[in-house]
Amino acid sequence: MRRPRVLVVGSGAREHVIAATLARSEAPVYVAGPWVNPGLRALARDYLVIPLDRAPEISQWARSRNVELAVLGPEAAIAAGGADALRKAGIPTVGPGQRAGQIETSKAFARQLMERHEVPGLPRYRSATSERELDEALDAMPQDFVVKPSGLTGGKGVWVGGVDFTTREEGRRYAKSLLDGGGTVVLEERLDGEEFSLMAFVDGTDVFPMPVVQDYKRALEGNQGRNTGGMGSYSERGFLLPFLSQEDQERAVGILTRTVRALREEGLEYRGILYGGFMLTQEGPKVLEFNARFGDPEALNVLTLFDGTDFADLLFQLATGRIDPAHVEFRRRATVVKYLVPPGYGDRPRAGGVLRLDVRRIQDLAVSIYYGSVTPGTSPGEVVLGTSRGVALVGESSAIWEAEARVEEALPFVTGEYYVRHDIAKASDIKARVDHIQRLKHAPPFDPMRNPTRSGPAPPPVFFA
Ligand code: AMP
Ligand code: GLY
Repeated sequence: MRRPRVLVVGSGAREHVIAATLARSEAPVYVAGPWVNPGLRALARDYLVIPLDRAPEISQWARSRNVELAVLGPEAAIAAGGADALRKAGIPTVGPGQRAGQIETSKAFARQLMERHEVPGLPRYRSATSERELDEALDAMPQDFVVKPSGLTGGKGVWVGGVDFTTREEGRRYAKSLLDGGGTVVLEERLDGEEFSLMAFVDGTDVFPMPVVQDYKRALEGNQGRNTGGMGSYSERGFLLPFLSQEDQERAVGILTRTVRALREEGLEYRGILYGGFMLTQEGPKVLEFNARFGDPEALNVLTLFDGTDFADLLFQLATGRIDPAHVEFRRRATVVKYLVPPGYGDRPRAGGVLRLDVRRIQDLAVSIYYGSVTPGTSPGEVVLGTSRGVALVGESSAIWEAEARVEEALPFVTGEYYVRHDIAKASDIKARVDHIQRLKHAPPFDPMRNPTRSGPAPPPVFFA
């Protein structure tokens, strides 16, 4: 069977694993992204180095290479109308157009869509574009709240009350600074629970879930430091998580399905990957955010396990018609990802450091290497760190602890200055999360007076279809 020529847009580790999975189904891969990623360079037939906002040039280049399918990795490509430009050039594309992509690029849009269509899992929220609206929004918030810039910030602009700020006034000042920067700000009740990521293949109508992943968002061990794009992640062999039941997962899938339907009812067709960032609360899963693409690092967990007959075929169906469920298969194994990042990442990352990887010894441990924000060094196995997440190591095994141990065993085969969170997927950390959910589940039922508001309506009822 002839394989479609596929363009992968983006230069990170997420795009590296997408390209590697396509290469497993023997599809010729082309890459367009902002820097030369050594892993992608080794896989690509051709490589265009270009900023992601240059959508028309990327699609022209794809046409000139007779590309037959495109996959958009980063949100910046979606925000820039990358999918619209590629589709206009006649190239089927995995990734929503700019308008449907607002599900990620505008948190205000996402919240309002959920509200209009009564999609379950909506936290109490208010959006504001002026100081007056901000004060009204603050009045409607409970004691603990979260401040979010509505637009894209690479997961780094969200400030959580009690963690990133302590007093209401501090929260207000941060929100005001976002308004002064010309943005829309979203305030939300602070949810208590454990986070999980659920991604799905979406062909405009049907939603095919992937294994659930837990991402570690904070920069430092012990979940300290700033929010980041994600320092690492794990997934469990049963495709759930140690603290997440089948019923919780089904509710989350229901939320994604209802969201796709809501978009369709507003005339927005969604063909791509839909990512739900959820908090499992006492009342079930609530939506923290949507992403219009694979998560990073979550893509590394799920695509390591992808076991469908043909990834290129699956993506082609997603982009052009309906997905055949037989294509969506994953190995029942656990995975652990840890990112090696430049020193100071999350605050003031120091770029330019060199990492040397003993690739063969790492692979002998059944650990995979995916390159992120790094460029090729002067000799094989050598890479130069940029300012973002550098190299991802992925362990796969029958149990989480074993996959985690494999990654740790691989670390001595990387030399150079980097930071890694050793606590990711450690048994003690996972146990603390399970205990947290147990405590929440056995706590007395939700009491609206627990979070007294100064004004504003009672929280809306939650319906499950
Ligand atoms: P977001 O980009 O909206 O997913 O937010 C980034 C991170 O901030 C999330 O992964 C959570 O850790 C935290 N966060 C966001 N919204 C809330 C919320 N309503 N309650 C508690 N934590 C939140
Ligand atoms: N890991 C979270 C994200 O990809 O946005």
